[in-house]
Amino acid sequence: MDLGLKGRVAFVAASSQGLGRSVALELAKEGVHLAICGRTEETLRSTAREAETFGVEVLSLTGDLSSDVDRDRMIQETLNKFQKVDILVTNTGGPPAGKFEDFGKDDWDKATAQLLGSAVGLVKGFLHGMKTQRWGRIVAITSQAVKQPVQNLVLSNAVRASVVGLMKTLSQELGEYNITVNNVMPGYTQTARLDKLIAGNPAFKNVTHEIPLRRFGQPEEFAAAVAFLASERASYITGISLAVDGGWIKNIL
Ligand SMILES: NC(=O)c1ccc[n+]([C@@H]2O[C@H](COP(=O)([O-])OP(=O)(O)OC[C@H]3O[C@@H](n4cnc5c(N)ncnc54)[C@H](OP(=O)(O)O)[C@@H]3O)[C@@H](O)[C@H]2O)c1
Repeated sequence: MDLGLKGRVAFVAASSQGLGRSVALELAKEGVHLAICGRTEETLRSTAREAETFGVEVLSLTGDLSSDVDRDRMIQETLNKFQKVDILVTNTGGPPAGKFEDFGKDDWDKATAQLLGSAVGLVKGFLHGMKTQRWGRIVAITSQAVKQPVQNLVLSNAVRASVVGLMKTLSQELGEYNITVNNVMPGYTQTARLDKLIAGNPAFKNVTHEIPLRRFGQPEEFAAAVAFLASERASYITGISLAVDGGWIKNIL
C-alpha cells in the first residue's frame, strides 16, 4: 500500500533510539523528511545517518524534551529548516519504575514535565502550521499502561493517562482543520527501555506468558502502526488508541 507520505515533514520526538528511532526510519522509508531528537549526540548521529540512506533530509536536534528552553529551540530550528511540520509524533523516555511510596513531589513533577509537558509544548509549537495548511497528523506514543496498569510503574500508569486525555480532546477540537490525533500504545517491545526494566527485575522476562503472541514486540512492528496512522490512508481515523501489544491488554473493547 502506498501510504501517500512522500515529501511530507515529520518531527519525531525522542528518536535517537528505541521506538522513536524505528518510527523515524519507517517514515524515512516512505520518503518523509525528518526532524529527530534526543539528548545524546552520538546515537542521534547514527540514526540520522541511517535515515539519510533513504534519500530524505534529516535535521538532528540535541536537547531535552522536558526542558521548555531546549524544546522551544528544537521547534524553532525545525521550522527554520522546513517551514512546517505535517506529522508530529510525541514521545519521550519512560519515567523510573517504582511503587507509589517510592516517589516524592519532585518525581511527580519530573514525570509530568517529561510525559505531559513535552507533548503539550510540541503540539503548541507545530499546531499553527498544520491549521493553516489544513492537514496534519499528531500521533502520541504512550503505553499499554493507559488501559491496564503495569505493575511497579505508578508514574507511567498515572501520568500517561493525562496524555491520552489531551490527545482525545485535541481530536475533537482539531478535526475541523483536517488534523487527526491518535494515540498508539506500545506493549512490551524489545528496546533499551525494556532491557533496563528486565535488568531491574529479572522476573519481568516471564511476562511473555501474559502475552497471547508469547513474545516481545519488535520496534519495527510498532513503527508500522504509527506510520499508517500518520499517513494519507488513515484520513478518517481520529481519536483512537491503538494497542500494539501482542494482545496483552485484556479489555474487550
Ligand atoms: N519498550 C517498551 O516495551 C515500552 C512499552 C510501553 C511504553 N514504552 C514507552 O515508550 C517510550 C519510548 O520507549 P523506548 O522503549 O523507545 O525507550 P528507549 O529505548 O529508552 O529510548 C528512548 C529514546 O528517547 C530519548 N529520550 C529519552 N528522554 C528524553 C528527553 N528527555 N529528551 C529527549 N529525548 C529523550 C532517548 O535518547 P537520550 O537518552 O539520548 O535522550 C532515546 O532515543 C517511553 O516513554 C517508554 O516508557 C515503552
